[in-house]
Amino acid sequence: MKLQDGLILVAIFYLAYTQLVRGQLHPLDGCPTKCGNVTIEYPFGTSPGCYYAEDRSFNLTCNQTDHKLLFGNIPVINISHSGELRVRVAPSYSCYNSRGSLSNGIYNTISLANLTLSTKNRFTVVGCDSYAFLSTYGVANYSSGCMSICSSTPEANGECSGKGCCQNSVPRGSNSFKVQPYSFNNHTSVHSFNPCSYAFLVENGTFNFDVLEDLKSLRNVTDFPVVLDWSIGKQTCQQVGNTSICGANSTCFDSTRGVGYNCECFEGFEGNPYLSYGCHDINECTSSRHNCLDPNTCRNYAGGFYCQCPSGYRLDTNTMSCKRKDIGWTIILLGTIIGFLVILLGVSFIRQKMKHRKNTELRQKFFEQNGGGMLIQRLSGSDSGSSNVDVKIFTEIGMKNATNGYDESRILGQGGQGTVYKGILPDNSIVAIKKARLGDSSQVEQFINEVLVLSQINHRNVVKLLGCCLETEIPLLVYEFITSGTLFDHLHGSLFDSSLTWEHRLRIAVEVAGTLSYLHSSASIPIIHRDVKTANILLDENLTAKVADFGASRLIPMDKEQLTTMVQGTLGYLDPEYYNTGLLNEKSDVYSFGVVLMELISGQKALCFERPQNSKHLVSYFATATKENRLHEIIGGQVMNEDNKREIYEASRVAIECTRLTGEERPRMKEVAAELEALRVKTTKHKRSDQYPETEEIENLLGVQILSTQGNTSGTGYDSINNVPILDIEAGR
Ligand SMILES: *[C@@H]1O[C@H](CO)[C@@H](O)[C@H](O)[C@H]1NC(C)=O
Ligand SMILES: *[C@@H]1O[C@H](CO)[C@@H](O)[C@H](O)[C@H]1NC(C)=O
Ligand SMILES: *[C@@H]1O[C@H](CO)[C@@H](O)[C@H](O)[C@H]1NC(C)=O
Ligand SMILES: *[C@@H]1O[C@H](CO)[C@@H](O)[C@H](O)[C@H]1NC(C)=O
Ligand SMILES: *[C@@H]1O[C@H](CO)[C@@H](O)[C@H](O)[C@H]1NC(C)=O
Ligand SMILES: *[C@@H]1O[C@H](CO)[C@@H](O)[C@H](O)[C@H]1NC(C)=O
Ligand SMILES: *[C@@H]1O[C@H](CO)[C@@H](O)[C@H](O)[C@H]1NC(C)=O
Ligand SMILES: *[C@@H]1O[C@H](CO)[C@@H](O)[C@H](O)[C@H]1NC(C)=O
Ligand SMILES: *[C@@H]1O[C@H](CO)[C@@H](O)[C@H](O)[C@H]1NC(C)=O
Ligand SMILES: *[C@@H]1O[C@H](CO)[C@@H](O)[C@H](O)[C@H]1NC(C)=O
Ligand SMILES: *[C@@H]1O[C@H](CO)[C@@H](O)[C@H](O)[C@H]1NC(C)=O
Repeated sequence: MKLQDGLILVAIFYLAYTQLVRGQLHPLDGCPTKCGNVTIEYPFGTSPGCYYAEDRSFNLTCNQTDHKLLFGNIPVINISHSGELRVRVAPSYSCYNSRGSLSNGIYNTISLANLTLSTKNRFTVVGCDSYAFLSTYGVANYSSGCMSICSSTPEANGECSGKGCCQNSVPRGSNSFKVQPYSFNNHTSVHSFNPCSYAFLVENGTFNFDVLEDLKSLRNVTDFPVVLDWSIGKQTCQQVGNTSICGANSTCFDSTRGVGYNCECFEGFEGNPYLSYGCHDINECTSSRHNCLDPNTCRNYAGGFYCQCPSGYRLDTNTMSCKRKDIGWTIILLGTIIGFLVILLGVSFIRQKMKHRKNTELRQKFFEQNGGGMLIQRLSGSDSGSSNVDVKIFTEIGMKNATNGYDESRILGQGGQGTVYKGILPDNSIVAIKKARLGDSSQVEQFINEVLVLSQINHRNVVKLLGCCLETEIPLLVYEFITSGTLFDHLHGSLFDSSLTWEHRLRIAVEVAGTLSYLHSSASIPIIHRDVKTANILLDENLTAKVADFGASRLIPMDKEQLTTMVQGTLGYLDPEYYNTGLLNEKSDVYSFGVVLMELISGQKALCFERPQNSKHLVSYFATATKENRLHEIIGGQVMNEDNKREIYEASRVAIECTRLTGEERPRMKEVAAELEALRVKTTKHKRSDQYPETEEIENLLGVQILSTQGNTSGTGYDSINNVPILDIEAGR
């Protein structure tokens, strides 16, 4: 023997040994799986290492001559994983000849090792003069018997029902048994049709009793199937826990015979559960174990299958067939809902659109109504100086946002011509937004007027118009924001303590005079303000005067000195000549300015009904005081001192000149401005040189300015003004 062969042999032995040790892992490797036509399955086997080593009961033999699988010496029919072994056992008999002599074939005790008789077996006795005993041995020994006697041949029946055949149950758990048939009278009387007593175990339901044949000679029947129970070990599944030999995808169950356990593959798996990897998935789809109506729809998965319907189909679980998805109601419902939604959406869209259009139309309407067209026409049409026109048209939304929705807290003031809001534009600049009074067409014209007038003016002492908004029902004007309120408030209001010094007052007077002078002469088209009053003079933080409210102003064409207009103005400031004649010229502003100057000098209101009869109007009050030579009485105490006495008298003279009854007698605004400016220069000079004015100069000045007629005329005139509706009755804001 060569060394190589020896090594191979050693290897084979080693393999065999390891297989033996590992036993149940792969017991089928190299083990016979068939003997004749019977399949050998683990835990049974025919050679060492092929059967469950713990129990020699699983040691089978295969007769190589006749290819019979044998359990001991009992032939095996088949092996069931659930714990059954089917074997063939021949019947026992005792036969008699016609004279009663015996010939019998009684088997000895049959041993079943650790296997036991199944209760599926029946102990059966066939004969008409017969009885038999079944003796079973196990944990307990039992004996039972069955007897059958018949006087003549029973009618054909096919069942073992006591007519020539009797059957008994078999006790469970016996691992050896013995069957013994006997006869009462040696079959002498029934010998003609039944010479023998037969007794045997047979699987219930497999023996069909044939009266004539079986009573005559059952001896020819070689054997009957008998069911034996087997299980692994003596413990239950719970006791063995995870040490059971049941393999993957299998489960352990307690044996039906009451001892040990058995294994079974999970549902959807098949194979030998006693092997480590014996259970494998059943492909239901290829083995036609599925119930899908169309096999093509069957899909296998580990442990089961499903019927996969193509998209658009659903599985009907009753017939396991694919049905076209029931689109009917769902689709109709869905369609209805979607359609409804679409309609709803469309309607709301159209409504939105219509609302938007309506809004736009409304805005357009307002724009027209508010004179937008007129404004644009006049802005573009008037070739005179339109180059410096810089008016921004604001949108309604922009205005609403700027004023926080016209919030009450934003109101700066309310006056004859409208409400003024504080507005904050998107660029954070603060503006004053004037909302004109809900007006008739004449006021629209006023409004347009203001836009036009202001757009023509670019003067540091005139409130700058930034733009306007015409889209609202009530047109809006946007001005630069002047911080410190009106001169009226400063002089008379409680808002500010009237701490304006004479220098301030004089400067304000100079600024206003200069502005009016500019409006009258220097601006590209002469402008008459028509509503000069302290309430229309704003002060910024440096107390610089800003003339505002040009709503009533008129542009005067170059070739016309005077215009005939509806009388407009404010009580107390209104030029009596203009009031009487309706003829407007620049001297009207001069008159109004005179009143403003008087207010500045005296700190008194233009019209005060608390003053004595003839002095209700400031002009007459001044005139009377001057006449009676007690002007110093009405001049504000905190304003006048020894230093400025002369200038104040001078200014008073100018004021009185300005308020002369006829326009002719009044100085031009230019002259007024020059005089006041000169006065201011003097003041500063005086201040600097610290000199007192000469007294005779003052006397002289006062002498010039006595005007007697003023008071009466203006007084009566102003009383009758009350009947004129367009007048701003509020007497200043
Ligand atoms: C096995 O073979 C025998 C004959 O050898 C036959 O009688 C028997 O029916 C067969 N069993 C099966 C299960 O095929
Ligand atoms: C029967 O089973 C027991 C325990 O499983 C074992 O010890 C005994 O050897 C078995 N008997 C035979 C005949 O194999
Ligand atoms: C298996 O059974 C056969 C026949 O009954 C016997 O010869 C053999 O010794 C048994 N093997 C074992 C290991 O008991
Ligand atoms: C095998 O079967 C043949 C024929 O039936 C028989 O002669 C022989 O004794 C059997 N061998 C064994 C070992 O049982
Ligand atoms: C075993 O044999 C019986 C009777 O011949 C048969 O009904 C049964 O289906 C068989 N079982 C297996 C697992 O082959
Ligand atoms: C039955 O047979 C036995 C022995 O063969 C004999 O001793 C016996 O007397 C017979 N009984 C009858 C009733 O014939
Ligand atoms: C059952 O019978 C057998 C054989 O006759 C005997 O050895 C055994 O002791 C008996 N068992 C019991 C529990 O009586
Ligand atoms: C087995 O026996 C029972 C009664 O013991 C009976 O109901 C049944 O029909 C029999 N046959 C089969 C095949 O189980
Ligand atoms: C089997 O039965 C027939 C009659 O059906 C008989 O002729 C034959 O001798 C019997 N064989 C044996 C071995 O008893
Ligand atoms: C069996 O279970 C125990 C605990 O229940 C565990 O410790 C052990 O590892 C398990 N053995 C196997 C082979 O799974
Ligand atoms: C059970 O079977 C499936 C498919 O055959 C396999 O993938 C899986 O690993 C098995 N489970 C175990 C625990 O082995």
